[in-house]
Amino acid sequence: MQVAVSFLKSKYSLDETLSKIEDTSCDYIHVDVMDGIYVDNKTPQCKESLSKCVKPLDIHLMCAYPLEYIKYFQDLKPEYITIHLDIKEDLKKVIKFLKSNNIKVGLALKLDQNLQDLEPYLKICDQILVMSVSPGYGGQPFQAEALEMINTLKSQKDNNNYTYTINVDGGINEENIKQVISAGADMVVSGSYVCMSQDYEEKVESLKS
Ligand code: DX5
Ligand code: ZN
Repeated sequence: MQVAVSFLKSKYSLDETLSKIEDTSCDYIHVDVMDGIYVDNKTPQCKESLSKCVKPLDIHLMCAYPLEYIKYFQDLKPEYITIHLDIKEDLKKVIKFLKSNNIKVGLALKLDQNLQDLEPYLKICDQILVMSVSPGYGGQPFQAEALEMINTLKSQKDNNNYTYTINVDGGINEENIKQVISAGADMVVSGSYVCMSQDYEEKVESLKS
């Protein structure tokens, strides 16, 4: 199980949080970017702090017009950039831009969205991000409906030899991780469970083992 840590909600300052995440055995830093349009919240500046990080970045754009954000974050050389299905730009064009810049493509699916809408993209995606909460805020409880979505995505992946990573974002903790794994997830995003704790590594370990 791969673990990406989101620093959206933390009890420490941004730089302190990032340095504590860097000291854990997590696989990615999950960067939640919000534009104040796609979701109400707007992300404070974090690019300069992120430029000092060594761990690979998994950027999640909750943005109606992701292209300008992709261009802005591009020089940090993120491994993944995830966009949402219902953006206000041409989805195919954005995917093409990511691919031509050698950035792995993630597509996010919210609980009220239909998995069928993702189908045309499953073959070309590197990551499907199953939102197990509504996007916009850290610290929300995990919604169990996500398990069925993960299960279906896992079957589709196995039946068609698709290569995407199934990532699950929102409300992940040591209780629900077992169900998320058995539903077929390859990776989880954990925010407040790790960053609101005293011992980041202990929490990351509890998700990885
Ligand atoms: C929700 C974000 C998540 C979230 C994770 O909009 O995409 O990445 O902050 O944080 P927790 O684990 O607290 O739900
Ligand atoms: Zn996220």
